[in-house]
Amino acid sequence: MGSALVTGATSGIGLEIAWQLAAERNDLVLVARTTARLEELAEQIRQVAGVRVEALSADLATSTGALAVADRLRSTTRPIGLLVNSAGFGLGQDFVGGALSRELAALDAMVRAVLITSHAAAAAMVARRRGAILNVASMTALTAQGTYSAHKAWVRTFTEGLAAELRGTGVTATAVCPGLVRTEFHERSHVDAGQWPAFAFTTPAHVAEVALEAARRGRVLVTPTLRYKAVAAALKVAPRSVVRRVAGPGLSGRGSETH
Ligand SMILES: NC(=O)c1ccc[n+]([C@@H]2O[C@H](COP(=O)([O-])OP(=O)(O)OC[C@H]3O[C@@H](n4cnc5c(N)ncnc54)[C@H](OP(=O)(O)O)[C@@H]3O)[C@@H](O)[C@H]2O)c1
Repeated sequence: MGSALVTGATSGIGLEIAWQLAAERNDLVLVARTTARLEELAEQIRQVAGVRVEALSADLATSTGALAVADRLRSTTRPIGLLVNSAGFGLGQDFVGGALSRELAALDAMVRAVLITSHAAAAAMVARRRGAILNVASMTALTAQGTYSAHKAWVRTFTEGLAAELRGTGVTATAVCPGLVRTEFHERSHVDAGQWPAFAFTTPAHVAEVALEAARRGRVLVTPTLRYKAVAAALKVAPRSVVRRVAGPGLSGRGSETH
């Protein structure tokens, strides 16, 4: 891939993807909000992997942040071969009565920013006739867990449509749809991860490995682990009334089934 830009690179799935790409000697552009953590990580990766690493501090819930990342993706002097959109968070609140500002930030970071960065990356990559876009969706794309499910359903469908449009261009688009993954996600979202058994969690390292392999092969949709493949298959055939009952509450920590 040569060089990759990874959003949400300082933690969880994005962090693992960044390290795995560095281990394969790809140069990196790391994106997240917390500058100190980003710069510390960039230095660690440079020291350990000996690759070139840029730290790009940006809040993807803002236009300024998303457009700064898009600008970097358009660079012709330091082209990006792989875009990974991993930045995201759970809302940790119900829609009714929840803070509208948090709803809008989630929509902007997980939908609008994915659209803006993919738009910039796809055009630049098609002009070079090579490249890949890897978007982190979720198993919740198939459930009914509030606006988070809706955002991830958008990411999944958007990526499928993009992949179809990109056919024959040398550029691919992949959406990875993990179930529960052991990261900072639940703590940051104020969701009690203890409500699910330990075996329900996948490691971010495994998700990263499966997602990168799918992107390399140009696969459009991928679900890590056999267990969640089975859950996805069941969700696709179950009546929606059952899905809503079993996996319907928002990500407020009140009995959600999968993230
Ligand atoms: N963990 C799960 O169970 C699970 C399951 C399925 C899908 N996912 C999805 O996987 C992706 C990664 O989640 P994770 O589990 O790895 O979470 P995580 O450990 O909490 O990491 C989230 C990353 O995103 C960055 N980020 C958050 N908001 C941002 C913003 N507004 N602008 C820029 N960067 C931002 C964070 O850094 P800063 O805070 O410094 O910005 C951090 O690097 C998300 O899209 C999530 O929805 C997670």
